[in-house]
Amino acid sequence: MNQGPNLFADGKAYERLMGRWSRLAGEKFLDWLAAPKNLKWIDVGCGNGAFTEVLIARCLPAAVVGVDPSEGQIAYARTRPGAKLAEFRVAGAQDLPFAENSFDAAAMALVIVFVPDPAKAVAEMARVVRPGGIVATYMWDFPDGTPISPLGPAMKSLGMATPERPNTEAAGRDAMRAIWRQAGLKSIETEVIRIRISYSSFDDFWGSTTLPVGPSGKALAALTPTAREQLKARLRESLPIAADGTISYEAIANMAKGLGSVALMQSQGAARGNSHIQRQKTAGCTGSPRRLYSKKLSSHR
Ligand SMILES: C[S@@+](CC[C@H](N)C(=O)[O-])C[C@H]1O[C@@H](n2cnc3c(N)ncnc32)[C@H](O)[C@@H]1O
Repeated sequence: MNQGPNLFADGKAYERLMGRWSRLAGEKFLDWLAAPKNLKWIDVGCGNGAFTEVLIARCLPAAVVGVDPSEGQIAYARTRPGAKLAEFRVAGAQDLPFAENSFDAAAMALVIVFVPDPAKAVAEMARVVRPGGIVATYMWDFPDGTPISPLGPAMKSLGMATPERPNTEAAGRDAMRAIWRQAGLKSIETEVIRIRISYSSFDDFWGSTTLPVGPSGKALAALTPTAREQLKARLRESLPIAADGTISYEAIANMAKGLGSVALMQSQGAARGNSHIQRQKTAGCTGSPRRLYSKKLSSHR
């Protein structure tokens, strides 16, 4: 199945462009999920493992599988000291290579707009989690909420082609709610995350945001050296540069979560084994006790 063009081949470059902001937003996202410890997670579109590392540190999972179609990102993820617990595999969101009921929780961090068919990706997450399991995502609010949001208007003002993502409409909270509902998920909630983006200088901003990775990297690669200089000059005018040379602005993301249901599993024709589900008490990563369903997880396909 077509999983979309691969614009994220370089895990190291991604780390500077987006990984640090992914971590900040990821912490807020996981605080909002307030998931219990000792769950088995799938991190869909795990990229270079920036979010996976936060997930492991914050939620103390029993196991994590990270999947991403980019071999370069996966190769970098495997080198992360804080992601040793995770098993990383090359796979796309629209065709997860796992059986129904394989995970307690599925997270898709900063991916939904890149997937050709977001509803198919969420349906896949709903399929692989058990009844009562978490299916959640967060994505920058387009076009103005992204950590590189100053780039688009500056490029547009100079008549340059701006970075494109296939499905930015899926980043809205209403769209997320509709997709979660369509996937048969229950107890759906959405919320907003705000983080502060800061650069020590204009050179730090320019060096970070013009790296050859993602849709922005593709749009910038198409510019001539003269056009790049024009863009640089325009950004020097438009960015909020403080007297000490630092640059700081807000990035905004939308997040959604829902729970897998028994009805959903039955409709998938995969209700077998539910009689073995046992109720057990577990403690949340935030410390608050929760009652959750747990069962021995089914093996991978
Ligand atoms: C902005 S990065 C997010 C990476 C990571 N989740 C994070 O929070 O830092 C977007 C990721 O989506 C991945 N991606 C693109 N198309 C995908 C698809 N069809 N299925 C799964 N992942 C996909 C890319 O390879 C890339 O690693």
